[in-house]
Amino acid sequence: MKTVAVIFGGRSTEHDISIVTALASVIKPLELTKQFHVEPVYIAKDGSWYWDQKLKDIKLYQSGEIEDFMRKAPKVHLLFDEGLTLVKSSQFAGRKMYKKIDVVFPAMHGTHGEDGELMGVLEMANVPFVGCGLAASAIAMDKVLSKQVTKAEGILSTPWTWFYSSELSHSPQKILDYVKDLNYPLFVKPAHLGSSIGITRVEEPKMLMNALEVAAHYDDKVIVEQGVQNLIEVTLPIMGNESPQPALLEQPLTKPEDYFDFDTKYMQGGKKGKTGPKQGAQGYSQIPADLSKELYKKAEELGTSVYKALGCEGIARVDMLIDSKTKEVYFNEVNPLPGGLYAHNWRVAGVSSVDLVTKLVDLAFERHAGKQEFTTAFSTSYLKQF
Ligand SMILES: Nc1ncnc2c1ncn2[C@@H]1O[C@H](COP(=O)(O)OP(=O)(O)O)[C@@H](O)[C@H]1O
Ligand SMILES: [Mg+2]
Repeated sequence: MKTVAVIFGGRSTEHDISIVTALASVIKPLELTKQFHVEPVYIAKDGSWYWDQKLKDIKLYQSGEIEDFMRKAPKVHLLFDEGLTLVKSSQFAGRKMYKKIDVVFPAMHGTHGEDGELMGVLEMANVPFVGCGLAASAIAMDKVLSKQVTKAEGILSTPWTWFYSSELSHSPQKILDYVKDLNYPLFVKPAHLGSSIGITRVEEPKMLMNALEVAAHYDDKVIVEQGVQNLIEVTLPIMGNESPQPALLEQPLTKPEDYFDFDTKYMQGGKKGKTGPKQGAQGYSQIPADLSKELYKKAEELGTSVYKALGCEGIARVDMLIDSKTKEVYFNEVNPLPGGLYAHNWRVAGVSSVDLVTKLVDLAFERHAGKQEFTTAFSTSYLKQF
């Protein structure tokens, strides 16, 4: 049996979503395979790491008992020993518990986890891990960088511009000049945050400065985009390393006035999703999206080229904005670790949750094995001259 460490929680506004992704969409199906031994590793909101079988129980978090657990439990140490070993104090004084990890399954959303920071630690440890690597994760979680990289590959986004937040206070006129060629409505967004935090839809110039200040308050980079008209939003989960396989294009059916509300994204699914279209991890959605054959294909191809352009591996989800009149498809953003792995969509596409996690672990081993083939040792006589 292989030992999988599932890492979740973290210093992120999406801490709680990560707990549910880890427990329901990763740990449970991994255990159902009977091929893996699962070690849950929980990162608290303050950034402390804990490792204990008890952390697999959702009630621990729901009841608030987690606070009591954390007061008593030892914190985890990581040992880089040609891979990764978890270490913690045992109940016997002076003795430690060790667990060598075969593969890590990061189940983190948002800052300090999904954004490449954790992947950097895992790459340093040279342990196989599921999902996008350091560079793809970091680029995906930056709305400016991901648009710069995809633009360089000829992938279309709605017209946009960006600036450093510090520039806004020094030279506001310069920022207004950057933005003047974009047509209203505009979308002003902090570059790194998810869950629509700090985003404003700006209908007219007199609202602009306030929106810029709000976004600049949240982040060190701000992106301003021209609004896509006659909007159809679609999202495409994709899996794979060198040969990415798309699941189904999914169309969220939230009302336009609710479009950037955390509660709509995460809280209403259970109430609304009982009848009608499929209920997704983010509420109410149509799978597959109701698009003409050509438009469906165009969006599927665009999604796959974004995945490749960013160098995504394992899994990711690409969001696109479609103008239903002009039939233009625009790249919007990439989520390197889709909430709940977007298992509901994979299921409709014929991939069960068990198959999904098994395949993702296989992809992690495949990538890791491929990387070991590159030469990092290079002998020189450089040191001899000193
Ligand atoms: N350029 C745009 N044109 C039209 N709608 C947009 C545009 N950008 C964002 N939106 C709307 O705002 C929502 C949130 O923006 P998004 O870039 O996806 O940020 P988040 O990281 O919060 O998901 C989108 O799902 C979409 O409904
Ligand atoms: Mg989004």
